[in-house]
Amino acid sequence: MKHYTSINDIDNINSWIAEAKDLKVNPLKNKELGKNKTLGLLFFNSSLRTRLSTQKAALNLGMDPIVMNVSGDAWGIEFEDGTVMNGTTAEHIKEAAAVVSQYCDIIAVRAFPTLTDKEKDESEHVLKSFIKFASVPIVSMESATGHPLQGLTDAITISENAAKKKPKVVLSWAPHVKALPHAVANSFAQAMQKMDVEFVISNPEGYNLNPNITKDTPIYHNQEAAFKDADFVYTKNWSSYEAYGKVLNTANDWMITKEKLGKAKFMHCLPVRRNVVVEDAVLDSDSSLVIEQANNRTYAAQLVLKKILENV
Ligand code: CP
Repeated sequence: MKHYTSINDIDNINSWIAEAKDLKVNPLKNKELGKNKTLGLLFFNSSLRTRLSTQKAALNLGMDPIVMNVSGDAWGIEFEDGTVMNGTTAEHIKEAAAVVSQYCDIIAVRAFPTLTDKEKDESEHVLKSFIKFASVPIVSMESATGHPLQGLTDAITISENAAKKKPKVVLSWAPHVKALPHAVANSFAQAMQKMDVEFVISNPEGYNLNPNITKDTPIYHNQEAAFKDADFVYTKNWSSYEAYGKVLNTANDWMITKEKLGKAKFMHCLPVRRNVVVEDAVLDSDSSLVIEQANNRTYAAQLVLKKILENV
């Protein structure tokens, strides 16, 4: 594997999950693999889990991580070709990616969507520009349309906590005050489609995800019907895909409550707004897997970095 930018880069999700579980038991067993190799982490957007767990993963492999908040600390990067750069951008991605490639053996990038220009977001111009102009492997730490490290993490967490061979997994939209990306939901859907689970999505009218992602996954506009016999409820807000980037409603009738959850386990990628997305009683209960999910971010990242290091 050269780059890891999509759940589609996972050739066999069951073997990847098994390997990640093994890394979780023996996190330092490949400590020599990354010796004298540098991981560059470039953040165009905020992060807690991704920033720390990916560094932790690199350290477990013996790598040296270096981190930069690109938006705040670097020169403004220009991504358009042929632009007369007499505005706010001071450095072209052609130079920036080539320069960082000299310092790093792998570059990991976080760049969220605009949520105003669907075509631009779907072109993944930031991630694809790094792939084009860097000379080293690229890892997505969440791009405009996907969060494949999170999706892999979630697959690991479901596998660890499944009490039956084919659990029912629901991806449920929940309210939020801000317009949020589709990336986590997209990658979760793609990961579940690769697993042996009964997978359904529930969201209000107007919030269907990109049909190229959901494919033939059943979509319910009735949350109660979707939650029937659920083993896992994975909750995430996303803005409208059809009315691109718009927040159509913030009413709390789609918030996750203990009563709605029933016997199901609760999952969320975090950060989560308490009593907006999900009530305290869920997060503070034994039904919540969110802390273990965050723990598994390290082993998902470690597996991805390991596979790339074995290939360079
Ligand atoms: N889940 C996740 O990606 O968390 P951060 O945004 O804090 O990295």
